[in-house]
Amino acid sequence: MNPSVTDARVEAGTTAPVPPRLNAGEIHVWKASLDATSSTDDLGSLSPDEVERAARYRFARDRGRFVAGRTLLRTIVAGYLGRRPADLVFEYDKHGKPRLIQRADETPLHFNVTHSDSIALYAVAKDGEVGIDMVRVREIPEWKSIAGGCFTAHECARLRRLSVERRQKEFFHAWTCQEAFLKASGQGLSGEKIGRDSVRDSGYSLHALDPAPGYMAALVSRHPVGRVVFMTWSVAPTSTPSATVEIQDVLL
Ligand SMILES: CC(C)(COP(=O)(O)OP(=O)(O)OC[C@H]1O[C@@H](n2cnc3c(N)ncnc32)[C@H](O)[C@@H]1OP(=O)(O)O)[C@@H](O)C(=O)NCCC(=O)NCCS
Repeated sequence: MNPSVTDARVEAGTTAPVPPRLNAGEIHVWKASLDATSSTDDLGSLSPDEVERAARYRFARDRGRFVAGRTLLRTIVAGYLGRRPADLVFEYDKHGKPRLIQRADETPLHFNVTHSDSIALYAVAKDGEVGIDMVRVREIPEWKSIAGGCFTAHECARLRRLSVERRQKEFFHAWTCQEAFLKASGQGLSGEKIGRDSVRDSGYSLHALDPAPGYMAALVSRHPVGRVVFMTWSVAPTSTPSATVEIQDVLL
């Protein structure tokens, strides 16, 4: 598919911009910078519990990123449903996974979010639950004990055989896959070690993403995925809130 650009205006209180069509078998992944949105101080579309959560952040930068992250989540999800961001209502399962409460006449929409530093990724699908996880790649001196506690014996043995550079990448690949699986499946931390093979064997599909230099991400879906569309949400530098939605890359 050729890259294409859609311009979309986001005006406070209006219906969210219409995203590209989300077909069955597809997952849309949106990347956004939480420090670059113009909505950082605008609590307008947030629910009372989100406003309360925002107030609990000690540092202004973290509070701003949370507000921007939730505002964007609402704007992106609302776009698929033709609704206003402020009208969306989320509920949370016992492990804290947010889900959308939908009207009976709406096509079910599933989403999941991950953020690292100022980058956020939003996965949206029609077919079923999705989980997404992103990390900044860095040296972890205690990687052996973390791997021993979280990964299967097979994954650990594999990591020990690799060069330092490859090991670092494999470590974070295994980590993000496990987290994305837990986020997709709705399982909490049960102590069970989940390998990449067992994720695939249990019928979930698993995709590695390359979201930004120095970061790695994994996307897990309960349903087969034919295509992952990766898009960037960027805010135009004007005083009126607006966004340019650019389809950057298509994987698979
Ligand atoms: C809750 C958890 C899934 C969050 O993951 P994280 O890497 O800290 O944070 P991420 O940025 O990737 O994801 C956070 C977002 O995921 C969503 N989320 C929160 N709880 C979730 C859950 N149980 N399942 C799925 N999604 C969840 C929220 O949208 C949240 O965003 P918000 O903070 O703006 O509300 C994670 O901390 C956790 O408990 N993992 C359990 C497994 C574990 O610890 N594994 C380590 C390897 S052994």
